[in-house]
Amino acid sequence: MSTALREAFGNASSTHQIGQAARQRLEAARASIARFLHASPAEFVFTSGGTESNNLAIFGLVRNLPGPKKHVITSITEHPSVLEACRQLEYEGVAVTYVGVNANGWVDCGEIVRQLRPETVLVSVMHANNETGVLQPIAQIAEALRGAGQKIYFHCDGVQAVGKVPVDVEALSVDLYSVSAHKISAPKGIGGLYVRKGTPLRGIQFGGRHERERRAGTENVPGAIAFARAVELCDRNSITHFVNLRDQFESEMLALGEIEINGGAAPRLPNTSNLLFRGVSGEGLLIALDMKGMAVSTGSACSSGSVEPSPVLLAMGRSRDEARSSVRFSFGRDNSRAEVQALIDAVRECVTRLRKTSRVERPVYA
Ligand SMILES: Cc1ncc(COP(=O)(O)O)c(C=O)c1O
Repeated sequence: MSTALREAFGNASSTHQIGQAARQRLEAARASIARFLHASPAEFVFTSGGTESNNLAIFGLVRNLPGPKKHVITSITEHPSVLEACRQLEYEGVAVTYVGVNANGWVDCGEIVRQLRPETVLVSVMHANNETGVLQPIAQIAEALRGAGQKIYFHCDGVQAVGKVPVDVEALSVDLYSVSAHKISAPKGIGGLYVRKGTPLRGIQFGGRHERERRAGTENVPGAIAFARAVELCDRNSITHFVNLRDQFESEMLALGEIEINGGAAPRLPNTSNLLFRGVSGEGLLIALDMKGMAVSTGSACSSGSVEPSPVLLAMGRSRDEARSSVRFSFGRDNSRAEVQALIDAVRECVTRLRKTSRVERPVYA
């Protein structure tokens, strides 16, 4: 990216040579990312990231479709950039159904079919959940929608899945697929949306005719180049590497006792492990690990000064206490086995200490 900042700083929409050099690099990046997703370059729109891609997919399609009555189906464990977009659609008069998930975080394809209405225009279900890594049955949902007897567009938020599992938009049979570069070690501020040829998507921001009139605004060429490079570095070896790290981590953690894997019985991303540590505050564990230089997440949102338990875990039937005792660990391409062992040792020590302290502090009632 730093080379690109020096060599491809031109405006890709300018006709001079510096602009055209940037255009060439941008189109090469687009072709590379499209190939990775099994799409054609014209079907890939660069955006600023996953949030924008999800907004573009949902509003760009639904607002552009005719009809006084429109209905959208999504799931309650989607990322806020889908859920909040759907809430805004409701404000604009569109009916939205939020389907639930089972104890393993799985969306039931049959439930989506049962919720279909003659005015259903869009279904949006994520490929992999950002908190648990649970993989949704995307190809199965797409097949059910194809058999629905009416055209229903299918959007999939693939932000967490790219680089962790193979992604083929043809095999998944989706119409719209959101991606974000910073989830695969590229810089923040660049992402994209796959738009199947023929999908009636209209841009949601207005200005120049960039990105085939689907996304106005001067393109982020260095970001696109970095995104393409990050995609080229994703390979099957890194997927095996993730599985090894996660399995090493989970088997040692489970041996500690009173630990469960959230979504453990569902197909999951190979790099994500969301663990429930009974008798331990997730926030407490996060802080203790942070002091040791290890960054994990509780998946809880901090609103009005209070730490809310994760809505994703609550949707899976976990109690508020169980959700508050859960922590998400995710491994990166550059993590080594030795680092995972250091993490295991640190978690073991912190959990033992936190369990002791909380047991002492907890009042005992006869
Ligand atoms: C599943 C999912 N969708 C969308 C987003 C938003 O992506 P971005 O941060 O690129 O806006 C995220 C970010 O964490 C995510 O995990």
